[in-house]
Amino acid sequence: MEKWLSSNQDKVWGELVASRLAKRFGESEHLLMLEKVASLFKGKSALDVGCGFAQLSQFLPEGIEYVGVDQSESMLKRAYEAFPDARLINGNIYDLEIRKFDTVFAIDFLHHQLDIEPAFSKLMSIANKRVIISLWIWGRIPRKNKKYFGPHGEIMSWYTTGELENIFKDLNYTITESVGRKWRDIYYFDIKKE
Ligand SMILES: C[S@@+](CC[C@H](N)C(=O)[O-])C[C@H]1O[C@@H](n2cnc3c(N)ncnc32)[C@H](O)[C@@H]1O
Repeated sequence: MEKWLSSNQDKVWGELVASRLAKRFGESEHLLMLEKVASLFKGKSALDVGCGFAQLSQFLPEGIEYVGVDQSESMLKRAYEAFPDARLINGNIYDLEIRKFDTVFAIDFLHHQLDIEPAFSKLMSIANKRVIISLWIWGRIPRKNKKYFGPHGEIMSWYTTGELENIFKDLNYTITESVGRKWRDIYYFDIKKE
């Protein structure tokens, strides 16, 4: 546990990672995945948690409010270059006080956290209508460990569909399987009206 807690995740997503991801995220596979994710948007405002280069913003309906949040200055620098008008906040989701948005996105974000919680509950608490997340499903490709550090020190966490079923059992959700890659599923949660 000690090594996970002291792994300086806020420093991991620096210039080197940003420049490598810029190539990979420019590929059509990533863009088509984001387009599919954007089609699940509901309402008039969107919060994009772990927005990276804010590429999702280009696929959302015109005229809606879009805000991206990311802990990495290097990722956001590129986001501003590509989308100068986007509203972007530099910070760690665990530290920020955030108001409610109709749809909250967390795409390729949760599996870079130590665990689904506490981030997932925070996402649910700030959504009026829908939370849309992507998760990597363990067992679809050979992987020895379910948690490990990636090549740059980034946390990688994989989950089985059974584990996720158990975690989300009381929630109202839909799964879209194998979006972009066979091991990535999109889950969207519709917020129940009290
Ligand atoms: C793999 S990238 C995904 C970027 C974007 N969502 C996409 O799919 O194109 C993950 C992003 O999440 C950000 N991130 C990870 N943990 C975070 C945290 N606790 N608070 C804010 N941002 C975080 C990283 O800095 C990185 O830019």
